[in-house]
Amino acid sequence: MAESVRRLLSEEEVDKRIKELGVMISRDYAGKSVHLVCILKGAVFFMCELAKRITVPVTMDFMSASSYGSATKSSGVVKIVKDLDEPLKDRDVIIVEDIVDSGRTLAYLGKMLYDRGPSSIRICTLLDKPERRVTDVKVDYVGFEIPDEFVVGYGLDYDQRYRNLPFIGVVEFS
Ligand code: IMP
Ligand code: MG
Repeated sequence: MAESVRRLLSEEEVDKRIKELGVMISRDYAGKSVHLVCILKGAVFFMCELAKRITVPVTMDFMSASSYGSATKSSGVVKIVKDLDEPLKDRDVIIVEDIVDSGRTLAYLGKMLYDRGPSSIRICTLLDKPERRVTDVKVDYVGFEIPDEFVVGYGLDYDQRYRNLPFIGVVEFS
């Protein structure tokens, strides 16, 4: 079976939108600082670009969670593979994700991080597939809403491949 990637969002579109998100976040957090929590590995490209566009003081931390499930669907059971280095107490936290699909991963992580006592906690995702949502997780900043297709690039993988594509594409099999 041959595999190819059809372009869905160009590098220029993605970069332009990330700039806009940076402006929104800088405005919403004026006079404060933000603590960005990157969900590895998918959100790493997005978070680096986003952080560069935020003009209020920024700190960053990283965590890695794996959901038990197949390559293309999450199960809702989340295992913390690498926890944050620093406490969240009294910080204004933004969880940075690559994509919200069913919403199970973020529903779980959001609650877990909320219990650590941040002053506030919001969610920022590059991509959102609202059709697939099975939880009522609230997403505060969304780069793009996309249809129910499996996407790769800009950090997103298919079986660990394609993360380095500078654009967002759909994997197609023929
Ligand atoms: P959720 O728990 O169903 O919202 O799944 C979220 C996680 O599943 C994301 O952080 C991704 O790692 C992965 N995921 C969901 N949809 C896609 C996709 O279209 N491409 C690549 N990874 C995806
Ligand atoms: Mg992910």
